[in-house]
Amino acid sequence: MPQYSADNKLLRPDGYREWIYLSSGLGMNYSPSPGDHEMFTNVFVPQWAYQSFLKSGKWPDKTMFIVEERGSQSRGSINKTGHFQTDFMGMGVEVKDESRFPEKWAYFNFGEDGKSASVNPKAACWQCHEDHAAVEHSFVQFYPTLKPVAKKFGTYKQAAENVEAKGN
Ligand code: HEC
Repeated sequence: MPQYSADNKLLRPDGYREWIYLSSGLGMNYSPSPGDHEMFTNVFVPQWAYQSFLKSGKWPDKTMFIVEERGSQSRGSINKTGHFQTDFMGMGVEVKDESRFPEKWAYFNFGEDGKSASVNPKAACWQCHEDHAAVEHSFVQFYPTLKPVAKKFGTYKQAAENVEAKGN
């Protein structure tokens, strides 16, 4: 569950590495100012929200998602090709909190040691998720185990798979 400070900042979610792992991207480019280095993005959702999704194809109120960014490296140790993950580079947090946020979904960023974060402006994160995500605000089109669940419950927006989706 999301926790907030007295001044309405989101407290850093700890322990997300023990949540359900959805998928990873490599060099997926969606942030407004991407670095010149390809990063891995690892996506996690709490177990209770995942269980609820399996039964309904929808995300319950207070669902949180983490996208953790990690560096990628090719040559190292015995590895010659391909890429493996390295250091933590930051993380994005998405919260569905219908009573707290008028837009229902809110977005935050944390660096290596920030303990709390203010909500990001709508244009920075919310809008792209609104326009392009396949299930509510989540990019289920990129999470292979969730996609069949959403299709089964009829909550999957097929049009989100098109490059020409709204707002692009
Ligand atoms: C231009 C489109 C775009 C913008 C802007 C954007 N995202 Fe996303 N977001 C994506 C895509 C595509 C994914 C899918 C997975 C990935 O990158 O691994 C994603 C995934 C996520 C996830 C994982 C859960 C989910 O919704 O699928 C979180 C958390 C997230 N983004 C947070 C943020 C935050 C915080 C910001 C603003 C700083 C932001 N995003 C801005 C496109 C966007």
